Amino acid sequence: MTDELDRVRDHYRATGLTDRLKAALAVFGPEEERLKPEQLATLDQFHTRGLAATAELANLAVVTADMSVLDVGSGVGGPARFLAATYGCEVTGVDLSEPFVEAARYLTARTGQDGKVSFETGSALALPFEDGRFDAALLQHVAMNIADRPLLYREIRRVLKPGGKFATFDVVLNGGDPLYPVPWAKTPGESFLLTAEATCEAVEAAGFATLVRRDDTAAAKAWFSELRASGPPSLNLGVVMGQGFAEFTTNLGRNLMQDRLGILTAVFEAVPVN
Ligand SMILES: C[S@@+](CC[C@H](N)C(=O)[O-])C[C@H]1O[C@@H](n2cnc3c(N)ncnc32)[C@H](O)[C@@H]1O
Repeated sequence: MTDELDRVRDHYRATGLTDRLKAALAVFGPEEERLKPEQLATLDQFHTRGLAATAELANLAVVTADMSVLDVGSGVGGPARFLAATYGCEVTGVDLSEPFVEAARYLTARTGQDGKVSFETGSALALPFEDGRFDAALLQHVAMNIADRPLLYREIRRVLKPGGKFATFDVVLNGGDPLYPVPWAKTPGESFLLTAEATCEAVEAAGFATLVRRDDTAAAKAWFSELRASGPPSLNLGVVMGQGFAEFTTNLGRNLMQDRLGILTAVFEAVPVN
């Protein structure tokens, strides 16, 4: 395992996460009571604009019930559960962080979705799936943790069927040096940001054609302004990432407001690779 993957894994090493989730979810009633996926939305969508962003991305990718979908860097599984609940598709999540995968499985059992949604521990740079297995792949707020973008996008291309969709929603470099810590990195040592242009070029070079490319920085800024005014919801990603998370989020908001960073939404189609 490379130093860089170890540093990223350390950042997401959420010790005791499943127990913390169990305790936090007691507000919804006893353990054996089934939860609705949307009850978890304030703590299981680990990206800017939360559930709304996942819903928009899935809509742009035109997810349907007959699809087998891969969520790369699936976190604690909120996007995967949302896709299965909304579209009836099968979703597989893969994530580097063992505690996150354990938590994702626990939450999925609590929502009663384990028949449609499953999770594996693994690296996006060596996806544990055969070629051409999936109809669509999602990548939300993950690429900024990955230095080897050509390999990342080649791996995603490899596991997609020809014509398969790749939908990404990520933080990109904009006009300046980012302030740290941020939600994906305490230091620049585990952060590997690219501009929107360089991101799309790297994706296309891996065997994709661009279908949609959108700058969603303004929507993210508006979301951060609202969050600042209302304060965080009582159940939030602090349960997952611990006390420091408020500072990480504040810095991401400042990076966006100061145009140091931006948000890219894009959907691509897998084309034949020469
Ligand atoms: C900010 S979270 C986003 C989680 C999820 N996509 C979501 O939006 O809720 C980033 C996730 O990417 C995962 N990750 C980072 N680098 C990875 C890699 N090389 N392979 C697989 N997962 C990775 C982390 O473990 C973490 O769960």
